[in-house]
Amino acid sequence: MPHLISIADLSEKDITTILDRGDMHLTRMLKKSPAEQTLSGKTILNMFFENSTRTSTSLELACHRLGGTVINFRVSDSSIKKGETLIDTALTLDAMEPDAIAIRHTDSGATGIVANHVSCPVINNGDGCHSHPTQALLDGLSIRRACGTIEGLKIAICGDILHSRVARSNMQLLAKMGAHVRLVGPPSLLPMHPEYFGVQAFDTLEEGIADCDVVMMLRVQNERMSGHHFGTPGDFFHRFGLTKAKLSYAKSNVKIMHPGPLNRGVEIDSDIADDTTYSIILDQVKTGVATRKAVLEYVLGVL
Ligand code: NCD
Repeated sequence: MPHLISIADLSEKDITTILDRGDMHLTRMLKKSPAEQTLSGKTILNMFFENSTRTSTSLELACHRLGGTVINFRVSDSSIKKGETLIDTALTLDAMEPDAIAIRHTDSGATGIVANHVSCPVINNGDGCHSHPTQALLDGLSIRRACGTIEGLKIAICGDILHSRVARSNMQLLAKMGAHVRLVGPPSLLPMHPEYFGVQAFDTLEEGIADCDVVMMLRVQNERMSGHHFGTPGDFFHRFGLTKAKLSYAKSNVKIMHPGPLNRGVEIDSDIADDTTYSIILDQVKTGVATRKAVLEYVLGVL
């Protein structure tokens, strides 16, 4: 029974299998062909302890469209509010025999702890600053569709790297698939030893995105910060906000990504975010539904 807690759980072959299947789902979706009912009779339990628009909705749609049922566990109406622990809550829900649990939690490592206690597959949809493997998979497929490959591309991940589970999962996946990954941000938001992750780090946007095929912008995640990491949002935008002028340092056919939600005028200018010559941000959302179909099929063993 495979859990999906981190990209480290997946081999290059597993990643390719999931991306190929996601690609097939996306092609069918874009042709408005009905999806195969591979999850008929299966029940997925969604446990989201943190806000979500894209991830929770795309998981629900993915499951429904494959003929499965989704139950949304409402944290704010649950016995967690009476002091029940995360593990007791997970054991209780597991006893109702869902086929898989999809979970998002504010604490790094929480989803792995749940996986160690339940008897069904667990899909991590973001745990603190640690990991967001379904986002990295959908980003990998978005890049593959936009650029034809991941291998050999120069990809810059820019902004608040320190607090980003999206950056951590993408670094792992993109490096595994043969991309040259760069991290760009203020020194206070970059890892101290980028070489440990097999990536390069840059503290100016112009240098970091120079000659890149893909530039992935990240949200400044204020809710995860303790202490002060940079000046004002205006200062951040001045140095690290992506504008058309700064984009000229990248390749002319560069693709711009962002996992959302966007802070317009902080990490990205609207002129770029809304220009589909460069921006594939809404394609990432579409790809998210297709990729999560493939992830559900993978953990449920119907792939
Ligand atoms: C990200 C997340 O929740 O980690 N969003 C997402 O899943 N699409 C990124 C973020 O919150 O900035």
